[in-house]
Amino acid sequence: ENLLLMDVDCGIDDANAIILALSAFRTSKLLGITCVNGNIRVDQVVKNVAYVLEICERDDIPVFAGADHPLVTQHVHAPPFHGTDGLGDIKKRNDNPEWKDKVLREDHAVHAMINLINQNRNKVSLIMIGPLTNLALACRLDPTFPSKVKDLTIMGGNYQGKGNITTAAEFNFYADPEAANVVLETFPDVCTTRIVPWESALASYLPWDWVTKKWFCQGTKKSQFTRNILANVLDNWRNESPKGYTSSDAVAVATVLDPTIVKDYVEVAASVETDGRLTKGQVVIDWDNRSNRSLIQVITQINLKKFKEMMWNSTL
Ligand code: BDR
Ligand code: CA
Repeated sequence: ENLLLMDVDCGIDDANAIILALSAFRTSKLLGITCVNGNIRVDQVVKNVAYVLEICERDDIPVFAGADHPLVTQHVHAPPFHGTDGLGDIKKRNDNPEWKDKVLREDHAVHAMINLINQNRNKVSLIMIGPLTNLALACRLDPTFPSKVKDLTIMGGNYQGKGNITTAAEFNFYADPEAANVVLETFPDVCTTRIVPWESALASYLPWDWVTKKWFCQGTKKSQFTRNILANVLDNWRNESPKGYTSSDAVAVATVLDPTIVKDYVEVAASVETDGRLTKGQVVIDWDNRSNRSLIQVITQINLKKFKEMMWNSTL
């Protein structure tokens, strides 16, 4: 059985990713969900995660609230893609506060991460699908933390300089570049570190016809929910990615649940630009490894057919 720990800024594609992770309950156990400021403020992230768990009927998954601010930089949020509540401003949002109380634990997300990893040394796959603030803090609080993680998968950054929040930067790395830099400085030496960069997420689109005419119409609660959270912001997603829906965070989870889905990757040294006038948050790939850093795996291609199948099954 694989043990998973997810850190999220729940977000529409984070919701897809959580639903996907929970759908693999036969082979993978989700130990908990830690929340971070990102697409929206962390208190709203917690509410959204609780809502997703309510839809999945999984009140056994503990949720932890984490950093409410990036380490150094100012907040950036992503309302055009995720709505002002992070879940597409669903009109009749019927989540109940009791559910939140049921799943939310008192520990801070960073402490929870450290504790859960200590209790399951070298057994947990850590999946980061928001800004890396909580993880950077965990590394600083416990410098041995990275050496106790089985493997780390991050949705974030880029490797060909293509951005989404700015011309040059992907949202999760831009939202907390200092944290991303700490993570890329500490993890690769002691832990298998993979990123699903923006370019690969974008190439892993789910065709719009399939999404709107098939996936949204499965007639299940989770399919309905997926349709609802995308309804108000669908046009914005379509404009950004005309060929299909880019569920970036779900791609990252899929590579952990089924590593055979990865068709290609490059192993490179990488760091993050923290102050560039035009390039803040961009990943700088050191193709010839002049820096002599430990390498990370940058996933460049996944099996789209398999991914689509996994997404289909996740909402049944
Ligand atoms: C990432 O940014 C967020 O808006 C999404 O949830 C995803 O984690 C994509 O760049
Ligand atoms: Ca996210």
